[in-house]
Amino acid sequence: MAKTKTPPKPEVAQLTFRGQTIDLPVIIGTENEIAFNISNLRKQTGGVTLDYGYLNTGSCESSITYLDGEKGVLRYRGYPVEELAAKSRFTEVAYLLINGRMPDTKERAGWSALLNQHSMIHEDMSYFFRQFPEHAHPMAVLSAMVVSLSTFYPELSQHRPNEPEEAINFAATRLMSKLRTIAAFSYKKSIGEPFVYPRHDLKYCANFLNMMFGSPVCPYEIHPEVVKALEVLLILHADHEQNCSTSAVRLVGSARVNLYASISAGICALWGPLHGGANQMVIEMLEDIISSGKSVKEYVEDVKCSRGKTLLYGFGHRVYKTYDPRAKIIKKTCDRVLKTLKVNDRMLDVALELEALAMQDEYFTSRNLYPNVDFYSGIIYRAIGIPKEMFTVMFALGRLPGWIAQWKEAREDPRFKLQRPRQIYTGPTKRHLLPEEVSTGLVKAPRVRRQPTIQPIGPSNS
Ligand code: SDX
Repeated sequence: MAKTKTPPKPEVAQLTFRGQTIDLPVIIGTENEIAFNISNLRKQTGGVTLDYGYLNTGSCESSITYLDGEKGVLRYRGYPVEELAAKSRFTEVAYLLINGRMPDTKERAGWSALLNQHSMIHEDMSYFFRQFPEHAHPMAVLSAMVVSLSTFYPELSQHRPNEPEEAINFAATRLMSKLRTIAAFSYKKSIGEPFVYPRHDLKYCANFLNMMFGSPVCPYEIHPEVVKALEVLLILHADHEQNCSTSAVRLVGSARVNLYASISAGICALWGPLHGGANQMVIEMLEDIISSGKSVKEYVEDVKCSRGKTLLYGFGHRVYKTYDPRAKIIKKTCDRVLKTLKVNDRMLDVALELEALAMQDEYFTSRNLYPNVDFYSGIIYRAIGIPKEMFTVMFALGRLPGWIAQWKEAREDPRFKLQRPRQIYTGPTKRHLLPEEVSTGLVKAPRVRRQPTIQPIGPSNS
């Protein structure tokens, strides 16, 4: 009889401290990533870990996105992002991220119909746009409008712990479609043009472009190359495991707050110039180089001498220590779009020169600073006619399915817990107020008893 193989003993790491040794169970992911489970560390040792920026800290196990920063690998649910960008539509990739598999023909048709059905926003919401000042940054508008969706569509109650799956999917589809409309409306508001409503005969990206650039007086000619470029850009931004804004969505969602409020928090985190806001900063950096009359070489020297105060936006990454695989695809798409649209953008020349100089400079290569997803994307958006203030909104449009998928996965995880990190206190130890610190301003309020006014019963005299 075949001997039953005894399963290998799970690996453990050991921590020895003040004469006590504890076991830390080892978790190995499907791509052989290693984690040391410290869930009982404080109980066993009284101590916690400290890890500024969470460079060495995993917050969860996830089956959505895998990336290898050393090798420049990025896969959504196992599919290489290069393949998805070449062969899929953004809405199919969104379905894949949220549901864990590609849609079949019937599911694709159903998903498309639902996206159409939910593409309008409540007419009352359209009046909100008029209350924002003209120069309002579209990311502020986007975040405010998304959290306001929870007032119009309270279907995802915050208090029912186990939200039915179909309620979450319904809210997710609604948000996928409405965010696109809100984004386009915020652009129209910023240029003082009337809103162009979504059309059911157009697919997701073409619909967005039409809402952005169409007008009641002259139809917008939807260029297939521009649609394809937008599909690629949104796919490449769709998810990126536990980045800053996704971690914000998970953290806020861990308080069991509704989907809209969690996504609104993610939009705010993404706005930051070190994160999604970098795509706008890249263009502003290129504008500065051109308007300063400085050579690119001089600018690069300024960055190096600034000791980190002046950043090369669009360069560097917390995880990628090689060329961001997304930047490679975006750079090729950038070439193709500018050639097709016959756009000659000086910014592209400056960007290419910046990249060439940095790639040969030991200051950047020794710090593993390579172009990231934000370095070339803005040049494509410019060529399409999208203003730089809208670039991070475009990032949010792409990232939305990833945020939704991660929020859903967190809620469905049986280990789901309120996220509340610990700290190491370094302030003053216990002390008491000195006499001179006691507030003499506290005037003893005269003890006045206010007689309760009893309303006479009878016809109101108001
Ligand atoms: C995104 O996490 C994600 O997945 C994010 C993202 C996603 O899809 O969600 O990929 C999207 O946010 C991409 C990153 C966009 N941000 C930028 O382009 C802003 C510029 N980049 C930097 O701010 C920086 O590279 C970060 C924030 C992205 C990462 O910084 P880290 O990991 O905290 O590294 P660090 O700041 O400690 O830098 C290490 C060294 C330092 O120099 P020394 O102190 O060793 O001398 O590199 C230097 C830094 O000064 N450095 C840079 C630089 N980035 C790092 N120097 C000049 N220009 C830069 N861009």
